[in-house]
Amino acid sequence: MVLYMCGIIGYVGKDENSLEALLEGLSALEYRGYDSAGIAAFDCAGRLRTVKDVGRVSGIKEAALEIGASACGIGHTRWATHGAPSKENSHPHGTDRLQLVHNGIIENYAHLKKELTELGYSFYSDTDTEVAAKLLDYYYMRSGRRFEAVCETIKRLTGSYALGIVFSDDPDTIYAARKDSPLIIGIGDGEAYIASDVTAFLRRTRDYYRLEDGDVAKISARSIEIYNGGKKVTREKLTAKWDHESAEKGGYDHFMLKEIHEESEAVVKTLRPRIKDMLPDFSDDELNESMLKHITRLYIVACGTAMHAGLIGRAVFEGHAKLPVSVEIASEFRYNDPILSENDLVVVVSQSGETADSLAALRLAKQKGAQTLAIVNVIGSSIAKEAHSVLYTWAGPEIAVASTKAYSVQAALLTLLAIRCAILRGEMNELSAREFVRELYEDAPRAINEVLERVDHIKACAERLYKSEDMFFIGRGTDYALSCEGSLKLKEISYIHSEAYAAGELKHGTISLITEGIPVVALATVSSLHAKMLSNIREVRSRGAVLTLITNGESEEADMVIRLPEISERVSFLPTATVLQLLAYYTSVFRGCDIDKPRNLAKSVTVE
Ligand code: F6R
Repeated sequence: MVLYMCGIIGYVGKDENSLEALLEGLSALEYRGYDSAGIAAFDCAGRLRTVKDVGRVSGIKEAALEIGASACGIGHTRWATHGAPSKENSHPHGTDRLQLVHNGIIENYAHLKKELTELGYSFYSDTDTEVAAKLLDYYYMRSGRRFEAVCETIKRLTGSYALGIVFSDDPDTIYAARKDSPLIIGIGDGEAYIASDVTAFLRRTRDYYRLEDGDVAKISARSIEIYNGGKKVTREKLTAKWDHESAEKGGYDHFMLKEIHEESEAVVKTLRPRIKDMLPDFSDDELNESMLKHITRLYIVACGTAMHAGLIGRAVFEGHAKLPVSVEIASEFRYNDPILSENDLVVVVSQSGETADSLAALRLAKQKGAQTLAIVNVIGSSIAKEAHSVLYTWAGPEIAVASTKAYSVQAALLTLLAIRCAILRGEMNELSAREFVRELYEDAPRAINEVLERVDHIKACAERLYKSEDMFFIGRGTDYALSCEGSLKLKEISYIHSEAYAAGELKHGTISLITEGIPVVALATVSSLHAKMLSNIREVRSRGAVLTLITNGESEEADMVIRLPEISERVSFLPTATVLQLLAYYTSVFRGCDIDKPRNLAKSVTVE
């Protein structure tokens, strides 16, 4: 089977606008997947025409524009996780009567395919989506009623889907449906959109409805009707706080660099509404504080970079709130049959709020009776909606596949929460808490900006490293947590093989890989562990490692030293993260990599 993580766009409105809106939307959604793209749109004679191909959206632009004046259409950008990207597998899929785009997985596709084959249908692709399209065709043929056919179809589908549909004999309407995959409806002036997320139509409107599971919508230029379980429903009108400029590159060479430069502001925006009188205050978030006070264990569950932010969170919760914390990889946690009770709080951290494993972990935690809290960047996303409570990070849209500012705000927010927790549990007095909050809210953003001012030095270090094919990051305590993130960032965008090691663990095997000329990035920002780090640094240097030292202390002997700005150790993880992100960024620039869209990766991982 071919599985997808994809972007969906649809437009209905004015003649002259459709193709432009669809192509623009698809380009904005390429972060969700970019191995093939397609469009189905009505031409001025009312004929439904389809253009699709492997490759980026730019590859179908010319052919799509040949459709000419069009008032309605749907589009899709795809990322396959199994099976080769091919023209046949690209969306839209359908028949002479309809075309359909899909994000998600139809789990019972094999069974449905067999049933449809017996009814005389044949299949040109190996996608589950084509099966859904043919099933819809069957129901439409049988009843002659479009809306009813959509409802009949989704009743038969198991798995997850966001669907955008157009029927050849109805050039003024888009049908949409969702279950467990995001889909929103943009509200324009005499125009409407469907999209996987708001960046797809942000240049044109900021108002939208978010479809809920089981919703089926009928959308024309004049009206938007949403039904659920056969009944008409209303959904709250939401307004995106982002403008289209904030979703674009703003003069930087890459979204990643722009997003690193937005870090200090994102941290301030995330913390500001939660600080009163220099103390943490989550009252506007309606957080259940008695829960924070009484829980006996905290789980931080997430994937990738978000999980690494959890490692920073653990150090603060354990160190200051004296609360035991487990940081869990969501894809492991969900299958490990975790022992949970109402005394446990499971914090799910996610930029997108749609990561399939994190969502499944959240559902499992709820089912097992734990309290749940989401730390999420996307308003109204599935994880945000399903958790008992939610704390939004205010990082704004993160477009580069490699997460940067989202990591910083997640780690900063977890820290603020830990301080609040420490106060509630009587582990920290207000005076100490105020000092900690001030460091986090005032000093750390300033230190991030100071790192950005010294970018040339980091760039020079990257220039010495970029030809390597293997690299190691070592650290102790929070420096180990940061090493994990530095290493992930480097490998995902530069394709240099890299490993993060707890510095003391290196000699238990991996040090055999440290030979003449191997680059090692050593982090030494925890003063109580400086002496220990120094011996680890000597261990690798004596074996010929080329050492880059990131430190706030006196520089030990190293080939390159990146000194952190003056900052309290408790919050130095923020400027250190910026250093590591910039090091990965410039190393990849020197290697000529496609930084914002690294190979094999997509921004929103909505499949397992
Ligand atoms: C790496 C990266 C990923 C994400 C992970 C979780 O740069 O971006 O590791 O952190 O896929 O995604 P979210 O935070 O959307 O749940």
